[in-house]
Amino acid sequence: MKTLAAFANSSIGRKWIVATTGLALVGFVIVHMLGNLQILWPGGGGREHLNSYAEHLHDLGPLLWLARLGLLACFVAHVYYTYKLAMENRAARPQRYAHPKRIVASIPVLTMLVSGLLLLSFIIFHLAHFTWKLVKPEYQTYYDAASRPDVYHMVVTGFSSWYISVFYIVSMAVLCLHISHGFSSVFQTFGVRNKLLAPLLDKGSYVLGFLLFLGNSLIPLAVLFHFIKL
Ligand code: HEM
Repeated sequence: MKTLAAFANSSIGRKWIVATTGLALVGFVIVHMLGNLQILWPGGGGREHLNSYAEHLHDLGPLLWLARLGLLACFVAHVYYTYKLAMENRAARPQRYAHPKRIVASIPVLTMLVSGLLLLSFIIFHLAHFTWKLVKPEYQTYYDAASRPDVYHMVVTGFSSWYISVFYIVSMAVLCLHISHGFSSVFQTFGVRNKLLAPLLDKGSYVLGFLLFLGNSLIPLAVLFHFIKL
């Protein structure tokens, strides 16, 4: 226990926590996106596939709650230790920006902090929208022919508002930016980034960020352009 606390109090320990929790969160975003993309199932099977997927997830009961708690713990630790590291970096730099090179070095950190804060507001809105159903309380009354909560109906109704779709797409662009930079930094933290691997890891991070942007944005775009409808 003492060793764990000492690890979390060291700079490298904090970096490892930020990197591992970041990886877990990216894992969630990938799985969540693949699950949601079932809404685009060909031949009009979107409602059936998405609703049955959501029902299976809810049927997991205590296991779902365990996963939710794990996700929340990763999220809190990721935000908290990123903040701590940023504060430490700031304190270690008494004459900030005395040299132009330092400004350059601070831009990615600033991008990560600003994009992280924007993502935090997206997640709060997203939970209020689809999970707590506070934005449109009528979602609570949506049920499909098999008497399951009609997640398909909820998503199509939600993204039929162009401003909600635009907010999601812009948030996905921010997510893509955050993940592209964060993912390549993870390898630096784990010490597997070298001169040979660096360009490959950077390209891989951009591709991952772009695929996440594309996959997630396809859903509001498909609704806006009536590719999927009620
Ligand atoms: C267009 C993209 C997205 C769509 C259509 C979407 C859709 C949904 C829906 C329908 C739910 C509620 C599921 C249910 O209660 O059965 C949900 C929950 C959630 N979403 Fe998303 N989502 C998207 C993107 C994201 C992103 C990018 C993140 C994270 C950065 C995210 C994080 C979450 C979380 C944390 C939950 C709560 C999960 C739970 O209650 O177990 N979503 N999403």
